[in-house]
Amino acid sequence: MESSASANRMGSWALYGALLAAWTAMLGSLYFSEVRGYVPCTLCWYQRILMYPLAGLIAFGILRRDRHLPLLVLPFSLLGQGVSTYHYLIQKTTIFGAPTACAAGVPCTTVWINWLGFITIPLLAMIAFLLITIAMITAYYSNQPDEESETPLRWPVVAVIAGALLLYGGVYAQAQAAKEAKAAALPVTVLAGTEHAEHNPVEPAAASPALEEGKTLYAQACAACHGADGAGIATLGNGFDTSAFMAESDDTAVLAMVRAGREPGAVENTSGVAMPASGGRPDLTDQQLAAIIGYIRSEFTQK
Ligand code: HEC
Repeated sequence: MESSASANRMGSWALYGALLAAWTAMLGSLYFSEVRGYVPCTLCWYQRILMYPLAGLIAFGILRRDRHLPLLVLPFSLLGQGVSTYHYLIQKTTIFGAPTACAAGVPCTTVWINWLGFITIPLLAMIAFLLITIAMITAYYSNQPDEESETPLRWPVVAVIAGALLLYGGVYAQAQAAKEAKAAALPVTVLAGTEHAEHNPVEPAAASPALEEGKTLYAQACAACHGADGAGIATLGNGFDTSAFMAESDDTAVLAMVRAGREPGAVENTSGVAMPASGGRPDLTDQQLAAIIGYIRSEFTQK
């Protein structure tokens, strides 16, 4: 029957589309964490756990011509959609209240990318899960059980996987080379930003590159707990304007404290809340932390 054959073909293409979505999502998320250095939060990990198996599962299901593939994939994609939708909502709205669930490591409200003001990583995940869900439903209903089904084309599967891996490998290698070149060009004084460590009055806040970098990194790594204005957020992080610690310590001491974090039980702790080591961002270099501290000093602490 002509109609069921074309339905079958549509089902196959839906499956190839789902395969492409899963590989794009998996390698895209690896790109953000491994190349760009964005640390995944707890909710990101749940989404990864639900997405990564699909990259293999869908390829296997297509090659094996397994009619049950949609039934196997849908629980993953529907759950994933739920988690990413929830994640997006806590990033963009306050309907779930204060983000306490993830506050121990990288806060789930950390916004790494915000393209066009609304495209964040959880939104990209949500789209990928949705595309996979739609493709699976399409495939499920276009399968004709009694029909002699066509042999599935192997080349789209090979093309998707090989293309995705080649692209990722190329981007990764290029980023690695760029990183090495940058490290080689770095001045010997790693803590260049902490020259005024003796607590000298900070130079006027000219938009120096270090200050600009500090501002960006602060927004990514610290603002979720300390507030965009540095005034602190109740139950998450304290304010810098009223901080005796900031007033008394030089930049080296502040840097050491930020690196180590502060347990709720520590004698220095004033709020009873933990400050995670490096603000939950172990990837930040001393130089980057110094840039953040320079920014905090110039914008938030009393001079
Ligand atoms: C998950 C929440 C969280 C994140 C993210 C975070 N902090 Fe904190 N931070 C805290 C908490 C809570 C305290 C207060 C600890 C205490 O009561 O002594 C604190 C304290 C501090 C202090 C000491 C202030 C004082 O008065 O004792 C500094 C400095 C600091 N944070 C810097 C940073 C920087 C820089 C970043 C970003 C790289 C960062 N924090 C990210 C939660 C956070």
